[in-house]
Amino acid sequence: MATLTETQANLANDPLSADIADKAKKHLVQPWPAAGSVGEDLRTILRASDGILVYDEHGNPLIDGPAGMWCVNIGHRRKDMVEAISSQLMDMTYSSPWYTTAGATAELAARIAGHAPGDLEHVFFTTGGSTAVETALRFAQFFNNALGRPEKKLIVSRGDAYHGSTYLSGSVSGKARDKNWMDQAGDKAVFLSSPNTYRRPDGQTEDQFCDHLIAEFEAKIAEIGADKIAAYIAEPVLASGGVIMPPKGYVQAMHAVCQAHDILYISDEVVTAFGRLGHVFASRDEFGIEPDMITFAKGVTSGYFPLGGVVISKALFERIREAGNGDALFAHGYTYSSHPAGCAAGMKNLDILEDEHILETVRDETGPYFQQQLKTLEDLPLVGEVRGVGLMACVECVADRENRSALEVDYAIGTRIDVHCQALGLLVRPIINMCVMSPPLTITKSEIDQMVSILREGISRTMDDLRKEGVWNG
Ligand SMILES: Cc1ncc(COP(=O)(O)O)c(C=O)c1O
Repeated sequence: MATLTETQANLANDPLSADIADKAKKHLVQPWPAAGSVGEDLRTILRASDGILVYDEHGNPLIDGPAGMWCVNIGHRRKDMVEAISSQLMDMTYSSPWYTTAGATAELAARIAGHAPGDLEHVFFTTGGSTAVETALRFAQFFNNALGRPEKKLIVSRGDAYHGSTYLSGSVSGKARDKNWMDQAGDKAVFLSSPNTYRRPDGQTEDQFCDHLIAEFEAKIAEIGADKIAAYIAEPVLASGGVIMPPKGYVQAMHAVCQAHDILYISDEVVTAFGRLGHVFASRDEFGIEPDMITFAKGVTSGYFPLGGVVISKALFERIREAGNGDALFAHGYTYSSHPAGCAAGMKNLDILEDEHILETVRDETGPYFQQQLKTLEDLPLVGEVRGVGLMACVECVADRENRSALEVDYAIGTRIDVHCQALGLLVRPIINMCVMSPPLTITKSEIDQMVSILREGISRTMDDLRKEGVWNG
């Protein structure tokens, strides 16, 4: 393996980047493209990565602010992780989960079940987060078919939620902008308000806002009928919606409503599991609930191999058996459900999280420090709110801070800040007017300082640009 300084030097003089740029522009369609950009779109080219850093086409290091896509939890370029995957591939490359069982798969299922709350002890592996959510939703439908109540099928979700990009997981996602041009399985999903305390109605306290959200859910159930609703799906913290922290007590109260009405609670922990909040699963350990299913992906392999899954409560299978339908067939699965290499990566990932006390460090040290340091950015007049928990956070910018209103200029603020930050050595995940941060869990306090100081400078430069363009005078 080349050392990193060699890699850096090689990249700086490497003509391959121009070739990559040309091919990407002409032939590559990347996620969330605007139709008019296909054939022209070019995103930052990355050529190498190590620890918390990625390297651009010129060999410049950038702090990986979003850890890829909330996923590279143990950091980049871990030799022990690469060896665990390659060793599994050399021992046995692939085995079909339809009619065989791989050792690594059973081992990881048992280990994940050991970390899951309550009686969540059955693990169905998938290929990533969308397929994990798809599986949980299809299981909720199957469950009600097997219980002889085929009319109990609706899924309740929320505005600002993101649950994936398959037809059903996309249909229960609630980000308004993503709905404009895409078809939805509209007869399957019902939406409640986003629990966004920053944008709660004027005059409401956080407690009142929480009561209002619970009452909204109860009213929706009364309107539709609990006998029509299969499940409620929720990220404990809405990640791609902008790290939306629900009001205190909300997660537990929504869970209680579900239990009272025999509505399955699906906790979508695709982002929050495997250490982002300092726990393997955050549902119980951070929010005090034992849901019926938990979906996971991303951090389960720290992005070294595509893998996801659902942990399902034992009680659900028991209820199916008690209903006399033990032979009901859950006709669902993927060729790469429980890929042995992914499961070997999952095992090594848990070893690393445990052996290096990464969860404790996030929980007690770097997580609180990260939040505290980012919060200092609220003194900048363009910053509306900084919020988050553990090692996930959002810096929400608003041109009109007083009214928190979305002005025309807000729509590109995230991208503008990202451009400045990249020039300064930090990769940011821009979402409209927000900068979302979720660095590798191995980040140190001094690296957090570096990240926050680049972000401060990036936002300051953006403010200068807006003033010069005469579109903002804050
Ligand atoms: C909460 C949540 N669920 C599901 C998904 C979909 O995961 P994937 O992109 O791996 O399909 C994501 C992706 O960001 C997510 O944030």
